[in-house]
Amino acid sequence: MNTSSKKGHRVAVVGGDGIGPEVVAEALKVIEAAGVKLDLTSFDLGGARYLRDGEVLSDATLDQLRQFDAILLGAVGTPDVPPGVIERGLLLKMRFELDLYINQRPFAGTAPGHTTPHEFVVIRENTEGSYAGEGGVLRKGTPHEVATQGSVNTARGVERCVRYAFELAAARTRKHLTLVHKTNVLTFAGDLWQRTFNQVAKDFPQVATAYNHVDAACIYFVQDPHRYDVIVTDNLFGDILTDLGGAVSGGIGVASSANLNPARTGPSMFEPVHGSAPDIVGTGKANPVAAILSAAHLLQFLGEDDAAAKLRKACETPVAGSTSEIGSEIARRVAK
Ligand code: IPM
Ligand code: MN
Repeated sequence: MNTSSKKGHRVAVVGGDGIGPEVVAEALKVIEAAGVKLDLTSFDLGGARYLRDGEVLSDATLDQLRQFDAILLGAVGTPDVPPGVIERGLLLKMRFELDLYINQRPFAGTAPGHTTPHEFVVIRENTEGSYAGEGGVLRKGTPHEVATQGSVNTARGVERCVRYAFELAAARTRKHLTLVHKTNVLTFAGDLWQRTFNQVAKDFPQVATAYNHVDAACIYFVQDPHRYDVIVTDNLFGDILTDLGGAVSGGIGVASSANLNPARTGPSMFEPVHGSAPDIVGTGKANPVAAILSAAHLLQFLGEDDAAAKLRKACETPVAGSTSEIGSEIARRVAK
C-alpha cells in the first residue's frame, strides 16, 4: 500500500446523500490546507444513485474500492428508499466485505451538568453481532408471523476486537479499558466476550480493566463520563452508546468515526457518526467538524501524523457560521 505523501495517497470519496457531500467538501478543503496531497476519486453512491439506476454497491465497484488506500464517506441514505437497502447494501457491505472490524469513535467534551471536560474512545465491533444478518421471517403478514434476528459472535471476531482495544488502551496515558455488555442476560454471547476479555487482559498487565452492563453504562455516560478511557463493546451496543457519546460530548455534529481494517488487507473507511440529515440539506446548517475529525483519523491512519494533529487542534475551539464558513475557518487555522 502506498503511504508516501509524495506520490499522494489514493483516497476514494463517497459524498453520498443529503449533507454528506457538503461536509466532505469541507473536510477535503481542510486536508488541502494542511498541505497533504491526496489523489482523489469520487464515487457516486447512496440513495440518490440507487433511485437513479439501481446500483447500491456492486461487487465490481467494491473491487475498485479495494484498490484505494482509504475511503472518505459523508453520509448515505434518503427517506425515499426503504429502510435497510442502503444501510445493509452499502454501509454494512463495505464494513463486512472490506473487513473493517473496528469502529473507533472518540469523544471529547463537557457533559451537560459537568464543569470539567472528558475524553474517551469507544471501540465498537463492526462486523458481527446483531448486524450480521442472521435470522429470518416465517408466515410474514399473518397473525402467526415469526421474526428472528440473532447475534453472531465468533471467538476470532471478538478476540481481534478486544485485542485492538487493549493495544489502544496500553498506548494511552490512563491505560484503562472497560468492557460493556449485558452478560447478566445475554449469557452466551456475554460469556464469550467476558472470557475473551479476561484472557487477552493477561497479555496487558499494564492496562486496568472494568466491566459495565450496557444499561448502567448509559447512566455513567451522562452522570460520570470521566470514569472512561477506552470502552470495548459489541456492534449494536456500540451503535447506541456512540450516539449517546455524541450527545454528551458536544453533539452529533462533532462525532467522528473510523471503520478500520487494522490488518491493512484493504482500505479503511472514515465517516462522521451522523447521517444524511435531509431536513437541513442546502441550508448551510450542517456542522462539518465530524467529517473533518474523521478526515484527521484518515490522515493519521495513512501515516500523516503531523497533519492529523493539526486538524484536531484546529477543531478544538468551536467555530460559528455556515458549513462552508466553519470549514474555511478551520482550513485557515490549519494552514497557519
Ligand atoms: C452508524 C449508523 C449505521 C449503523 C447505520 C446507518 C447502518 O447508525 O454508523 O452508527 O447502525 O452502524
Ligand atoms: Mn449509529
